[in-house]
Parts: sequence; C-alpha cells; structure tokens
Amino acid sequence: MTTTTPRGTPDPELRHAVRADLLDVFRIEQASFPQPWPFSAFEGFLEAPGFLVALDDDGVVGYVVADTVPNHGRPLGHVKDIAVRPDRRGEGIGATLLERALSILAGEGTSRVKLEVRAGNKEAIRLYRGFGFSHHHTVPRYYDDGEDALVMLRGF
Ligand SMILES: CC(C)(COP(=O)(O)OP(=O)(O)OC[C@H]1O[C@@H](n2cnc3c(N)ncnc32)[C@H](O)[C@@H]1OP(=O)(O)O)[C@@H](O)C(=O)NCCC(=O)NCCS
Repeated sequence: MTTTTPRGTPDPELRHAVRADLLDVFRIEQASFPQPWPFSAFEGFLEAPGFLVALDDDGVVGYVVADTVPNHGRPLGHVKDIAVRPDRRGEGIGATLLERALSILAGEGTSRVKLEVRAGNKEAIRLYRGFGFSHHHTVPRYYDDGEDALVMLRGF
C-alpha cells in the first residue's frame, strides 16, 4: 500500500545514506545554506545512525544528518543538518525525514535531542516546534555572517 505525507503526496522512500548519494546530498546542501557543509563533512557522517536520504524517481530529494553525542548517562541526540531540494519543499518530506531520524535516535537510547537553527529560519523553526522542540537558549552571532543560533531541545 502506498502511504502518503501529511500533505497527501506519496511518501518518499527513506534509507540510510550511502557514498553514492553524497553528490546529490551536497548539491542540495549548496542550494540550501549560505554556508554549506563541505563534501568531506558528509563523508565523515556516513556511519552516523541518523544520516538518511529521501528518494523518489528523481533521486535524492532530501536528507537528514542526526547522531548521538556521549553524555553523562544516556547519550544526547543531535540533529546536525536537514534539507529538502528547493523544488520539493512543503510536501512533508522534511517532516518525514525528521520523524524517522528521531525514532532512530530514540532507538539509540537518547533521552534528549538538541539542534541549532538560525534565528530567522521560520520554516525550520516551525518544523521543529511541530516535533516538540522548544527554545532552550540563544547563541549570539553563532554563524559566520553574524546571525544568532537558537538551540532547541526535546525529550522523549
Ligand atoms: C526546513 C526544511 C527542511 C523543511 O522541509 P519541508 O519538506 O519543506 O517541510 P515539510 O513540508 O515537511 O513541512 C513540515 C513543517 O515545516 C513547516 N514549513 C515547511 N515549509 C514551510 C513554509 N514555507 N512556511 C512555513 N512553514 C513551513 C510547517 O510547520 C510544516 O508543517 P505543516 O504541514 O503543519 O504546515 C526545508 O524548508 C529546507 O530544506 N530548508 C532549507 C534548509 C534548512 O533551513 N534546514 C534547516 C536547518 S536548521
């Protein structure tokens, strides 16, 4: 049975990222961020449990990089990066990716998940709030261009 995103479009296939996905991932990264990660950063996360890609007939249409960080007691989850190809935004792909990444982090035993987001990134902040993240603190001028970061947290 075909399942659908909250917007009614068919759910993209999700799977763990492999090396052959990285060029597509990197192109989406470059189209999405003023200070994109370098290609080598994605290579470095190939083993991360929450590095997922969303695929359809066009290839990679989005990705998320989520990992665990050692913490006293249970590990902390960290959503490090998420982006959807610009022409495929607003279809529920980002929400589908984030939902799966959070479930993987929960399976890794994390009790809390954190992320940083640009203070002006309304779309992303809305997505994160929808998944129960709330503002924990602000890091002034966190980004190279001087924009503040909001650190957001959610528990399980
Ligand atoms: C943030 C991003 C990943 C969201 O992916 P997406 O596939 O477009 O998001 P979805 O379609 O799953 O939407 C999920 C929620 O995000 C919010 N959202 C998405 N697009 C939005 C828009 N244009 N305006 C306002 N809210 C929006 C909504 O809350 C939406 O929930 P809703 O269905 O209740 O309205 C995507 O906009 C993106 O790639 N942005 C550039 C990269 C980026 O900023 N990443 C975050 C870094 S911290």
